[in-house]
Amino acid sequence: MPDPAFSRRGKRRFDDDEPTFAKRNRHRSALPALDAYGTVDGLPDGDRWSSWDQSAAGERGPRPYPDWLVTELAAADTELGILKTGKEADVFLLRRGVPGTGRSCLLAAKRYRDAGHRMFHRDSEYLEGRRVRESRASRAMASRTSAGREMIAALWANAEFSALSKLYLAGVPVPYPVQVLGTEVLLEFIGDPDGTAAPRLAETRPQGSELAGLWDQLVQALRTLAGHGLAHGDMSAYNLLVHHGRLVMIDLPQVIDVIAHPRGAEFLDRDAANVARWFSARGLGGIVPAAGDLPAPGDLPALLRQEARIG
Ligand SMILES: Nc1ncnc2c1ncn2[C@@H]1O[C@H](COP(=O)(O)OP(=O)(O)OP(=O)(O)O)[C@@H](O)[C@H]1O
Ligand SMILES: [Mg+2]
Repeated sequence: MPDPAFSRRGKRRFDDDEPTFAKRNRHRSALPALDAYGTVDGLPDGDRWSSWDQSAAGERGPRPYPDWLVTELAAADTELGILKTGKEADVFLLRRGVPGTGRSCLLAAKRYRDAGHRMFHRDSEYLEGRRVRESRASRAMASRTSAGREMIAALWANAEFSALSKLYLAGVPVPYPVQVLGTEVLLEFIGDPDGTAAPRLAETRPQGSELAGLWDQLVQALRTLAGHGLAHGDMSAYNLLVHHGRLVMIDLPQVIDVIAHPRGAEFLDRDAANVARWFSARGLGGIVPAAGDLPAPGDLPALLRQEARIG
């Protein structure tokens, strides 16, 4: 059931005259009041109080919250460094832990850029597919003022967070979406406890049964997406992580509703063809006929169309 507090808040966000970042900083400057928790008198440089309670209920991940997730209000977030700079966002590694206890978790913070360094290639696809109704948002996007750019970044962060929440609940292997706060999405970190991030599929060289196993997981994930009428929209071996043999799909802000979007079927085909090409080049074609009922790479587009019931 939609959370009424969330939808009110979500709507208001783009009607407000005040840009999100100003509200967020104002909120942050009130943080010393947290001394009332009686835990720590100030935090080491670079740390911030856990931002968990700054996200409204609808801006936090699906319940039940996973056991590993630190939700204690006394927790602090420590920046451990940058994981990757991307075209539209930078991804940082954070530790959220309760000072003085052994309780902590690693999180990936994906921060959408609001400055001129960002590439806007996906914005028009976003507008075409979703018909952004908020006229202020559309105007701001068109004008590319700094408030407009901030708004676009927040729209992307929210789009990614809601797609991840939906897909997580549908059983698609995606990082657990912890929370969204302005232009930042906090995600389950996919990697090892020492902070080593899982490689992207494109950086791995799987063969034989390992290759077939990853193909199997990918086909299942894409079929589930298509079954929900969705396409990733930017599917490639760069947006899949491989963590000890487990495939995890990432980078989902532009998820496409294949029925509502005028070019939905095209996106579905493009996604399928991109990954099928990668798996074919790695030699999957020579493996699948012998690997049970796994589809051949070339059959994936038709299979996904069928799953999405678009012919
Ligand atoms: N949850 C995560 N756990 C570990 N690493 C992650 C996670 N999310 C993202 N990354 C790393 O950060 C990179 C960029 O993330 P993502 O693809 O979501 O952003 P992007 O801005 O679209 O980047 P790009 O332009 O490279 O596609 C990923 O390729 C991956 O290496
Ligand atoms: Mg990416």
